[in-house]
Amino acid sequence: MSDSGLGFSPLRFVLLIVVIALLILLFEVVSDFGGGLIKGQVKRTTGKYNQENNTTPVFVLTQKEEQPANIEIQESAPPPVLAALSGEEVYNSACIACHMTGAGGAPLLGDADAWEARVAQGTPVLIQRAVEGYMGEIGIMPAKGGRLDLSDEEVENAVSYMLDQL
Ligand code: HEC
Repeated sequence: MSDSGLGFSPLRFVLLIVVIALLILLFEVVSDFGGGLIKGQVKRTTGKYNQENNTTPVFVLTQKEEQPANIEIQESAPPPVLAALSGEEVYNSACIACHMTGAGGAPLLGDADAWEARVAQGTPVLIQRAVEGYMGEIGIMPAKGGRLDLSDEEVENAVSYMLDQL
């Protein structure tokens, strides 16, 4: 059998391996001077990724901050006791709509004439009517001015405030 060039020859086999090794070496050198092929590849890929996404590294190794030896456990402050609104605050939010404009016949704030006969009834009556509401000869005074979320005390404060303006 003549040597056709396709038969097995130990020399060719060694040559083939050498050629492959040289190719790999060449590829290494061309792809990333001095750097390993895989290493260079990873560097390029991650570098590109970071550039595109402008991300900060996912893992940042930092030194663990030292915890103070005595950690003071601060007791949360007790919930603030809701202070009753002042007469002026209540008036400005709940009464002003009618008692500033005279809507529905409401006696105006500071109008001494309009309040004279009312004041004569005595403050307790005024307070009771402001809290519970009433229907007078002129119009309707809604209970708490329609603001049922107000406490009796707050409405009483508002009545005092209104009487102070006379
Ligand atoms: C929707 C309109 C309206 C609002 C809001 C309102 N009032 Fe009046 N109020 C009236 C009217 C109308 C009268 C007069 C009724 C009458 O005497 O016929 C009146 C009368 C009063 C009187 C006199 C009572 C009396 O015996 O003469 C007091 C006191 C009073 N209001 C307090 C308040 C206070 C305090 C608020 C807020 C918390 C308030 N009002 C909110 C309409 C209103």
